[in-house]
Amino acid sequence: YPKAFIYDLDGIITDTAEFHFLAWQKLADEIGIPIDRKFNEQLKGINRMDSLDRILKLGTSGRVLSDSEKMTLATRKNEYYLELIESINPSHILPGIELLLQKNKQQHIKIALGSASNNAPAILDKLQLTGYFDYIVDASKVKKGKPDPETFTTAAAALGVAPDECVGIEDAAAGVESINSAGMFSVAVGDVHHLAAADYLVEDTAQLIFEDIIAHYGKR
Ligand code: BG6
Ligand code: MG
Ligand code: MG
Repeated sequence: YPKAFIYDLDGIITDTAEFHFLAWQKLADEIGIPIDRKFNEQLKGINRMDSLDRILKLGTSGRVLSDSEKMTLATRKNEYYLELIESINPSHILPGIELLLQKNKQQHIKIALGSASNNAPAILDKLQLTGYFDYIVDASKVKKGKPDPETFTTAAAALGVAPDECVGIEDAAAGVESINSAGMFSVAVGDVHHLAAADYLVEDTAQLIFEDIIAHYGKR
């Protein structure tokens, strides 16, 4: 068995990936740089400021924004996002997730969160899942966001587990890259077009079956 499971939050534990998209889309519309779901795949897993930079790069107006102008836009996006997550509750835990956490606990496998989000601890609390986690990596814990491995290596180090004994679970291409470059076994949820680099890919979280993950981990 692996000794630790490290979970992404947005799009894995709960569907806040959709809320991040809707909030960025609202902001992007307001500044005249419309974005679509295809472009959004490039924002998944990417921290707030880097996401804003990617959107601004799409714009053709050319003027470079100051840091304080960017901060204002990023804060506005977060306000839209906070409105969307206000009413999150345990019914918003994605299928299969709580059972997987329970199986981890039964097998004495350590559990960490590896999220790029500043809002991660508050969301885990709203979902009433905080108690499962031995360690939480959020945006405040890392210098380099995904796809850099730091998010996942920080979690493993805090748990005292070697990277090759960790399973990382992600819905974002940047996240899979982060797990892979950390030297961990990567499990991805979603579309093969974006996630082909994963060691094991499933279509949705209901297919995150503990025994199946273990079987694929054993064959790595
Ligand atoms: C990641 C999401 O988990 O967190 C990204 O996949 C998001 O979409 C990033 O931009 C940062 O989140 P926050 O809550 O700090 O703005
Ligand atoms: Mg995600
Ligand atoms: Mg995340």
